[in-house]
Amino acid sequence: MPTPETLTTSEHHDFDLELVSGTWPTDISGEMLFSAPMLGGRLPYGIFDFGCVIRLSLTPGTHGAPDGRFAWRTGQIETPSKRIFDAAPDAFTSSPVGYSSPFGAPNSSNTAPLPWGDRLFTTWDAGRPVEIHPGTLEYVAEVGHIDSWGGSSMFGDTVLPFLFSSAHPVVDPERHGLWTTKLEPVMSPTFGMRPSVVWWDRSGTEVKWWPLEGISFPGSTHTVSQTRDWVILCDSGNFKADADEMFGGERTVTIDAEVPVWLVRKDDLFSRPSGTPVQPTCFRVSPPNGHFYARYDDSDGISVVWEGMDLMDLALYLRPDDVDIHGRPVDPASVGLYNMAMAPETITELLFEPETGKVIERGGFREDWTINLQLSAMDWSLEGMSAPTLHHVSYQGCRPGRITQRAAQLYEDRIDLSALAEETPGYLASFERGSMELTARWEYPDTSELITSPTFAPRSPTAGNYAGGEPGGHDGYVVQPVLSDAGFRVDLFDAADVGAGPVATLRGTHKECVPLVLHSAWMPSVDELADADRLRFADELSADRLAGLDDDQRRLVARVAEDLDAGSAPAGSVRRDG
Ligand SMILES: [Fe+2]
Repeated sequence: MPTPETLTTSEHHDFDLELVSGTWPTDISGEMLFSAPMLGGRLPYGIFDFGCVIRLSLTPGTHGAPDGRFAWRTGQIETPSKRIFDAAPDAFTSSPVGYSSPFGAPNSSNTAPLPWGDRLFTTWDAGRPVEIHPGTLEYVAEVGHIDSWGGSSMFGDTVLPFLFSSAHPVVDPERHGLWTTKLEPVMSPTFGMRPSVVWWDRSGTEVKWWPLEGISFPGSTHTVSQTRDWVILCDSGNFKADADEMFGGERTVTIDAEVPVWLVRKDDLFSRPSGTPVQPTCFRVSPPNGHFYARYDDSDGISVVWEGMDLMDLALYLRPDDVDIHGRPVDPASVGLYNMAMAPETITELLFEPETGKVIERGGFREDWTINLQLSAMDWSLEGMSAPTLHHVSYQGCRPGRITQRAAQLYEDRIDLSALAEETPGYLASFERGSMELTARWEYPDTSELITSPTFAPRSPTAGNYAGGEPGGHDGYVVQPVLSDAGFRVDLFDAADVGAGPVATLRGTHKECVPLVLHSAWMPSVDELADADRLRFADELSADRLAGLDDDQRRLVARVAEDLDAGSAPAGSVRRDG
């Protein structure tokens, strides 16, 4: 098996974990959150499916777990989109880029948890952030009335608006708001997507947005980053729409070798009304990337870690008729998952100089083993972002069984197939911020396993605080989940000494398996829903938006709106212990 079968054959469910080796420290606390698409089997490409949120409690005996056990709790995200889909699934048609319907395009919110103080959100690239109750994990609200976003990105004005956005908005810790993006098609200066910077100050139900003047590009803005004074956007470059593929043909579009980066001063945005264009400062970086993280303190320059995705084309997925690069039929359990990396990946820290237009490389790392850079763990406290020390990265290793011949042919002039022939171990690695020197590494030699999104948990944070004693990424723990057909486990590392191996390991009491998960994040324990003014689904149901629906469909929309206003769970949903 190139990756565990249970990525797609097991189901998300609640269970408890127990300590199976080492000593669980007493100075760790809080919750680890995950986002995941629930692979319902109706979509050819599973990463577009409806999302769930998962919470691993890092303090034993909490959230319904007995003494000495650790609670793994899951919740389907019952957005208006999900409720309508469940009530009228036949109205939804599937394509390689998700569902469409007379109601509009659903918000699957399946990619990343976004903790923000005492509030919790989940995100994805094609919808608004969604607020989740941090105690019950139930759906609460979507962010920002669609009119304040300037309307849908495309596909008309429907009950379920389509918003092409970012799966990684960033919380501004001093201006107390959220930076994200909206993309919409434009014809000028060329046909492509025009990005806007979007701001939500969390106090109300409206966002502000400012289009980037003169910018049109063919990709996506997966990540948003920031310094104290600047917002940073980029064409991720690794997911490009292919019109032929959408209409049933073969994909011929490939990812870029170099991508544009746009910097905008926060003060320039706030000085103009919502909807007014703003001029960005433009740069280019290589290779394309999924994720990038700026040091918040920009008094010494704008310094950004770029997690490269050198030959990782996220638009490619495995079909039932695919063969891998060795000519073997692909594992049926891998069908619908993404095609894995076709080259080792580069991580760099770059310094941007808006005054001179220069990009200066401070440090970088790429070796044969740095393949399938999955995701990273860092200290998200204000203090940690201001002066980061360590950046922890999980590499999943080479998995030739999840690289298709179709993909290899598409990239035949850009890949070295001989370097992809063997499965290689996964690694958890720590890099020094700035120099990007490798400071520690732990090997996962069992290639039947798959390490997935790690997170950083600070040591001894005070109640409700994101910062530990010595912020930056070295003083605390790296929590490393391991997916395996023999049972899911959680390895805990001392963040300052990942190379020493796990200090403790948890496993499900019945060796439970866990399906594919995407991003993870850490937050302090919060069980109550914060008071706030929130958007209601009913607030957006204008006559124009309902006009394209028949009577039954309108009744369904009205019922979903009533259920949401009444705080009712949808029929058939499972309420959790909290
Ligand atoms: Fe991501």
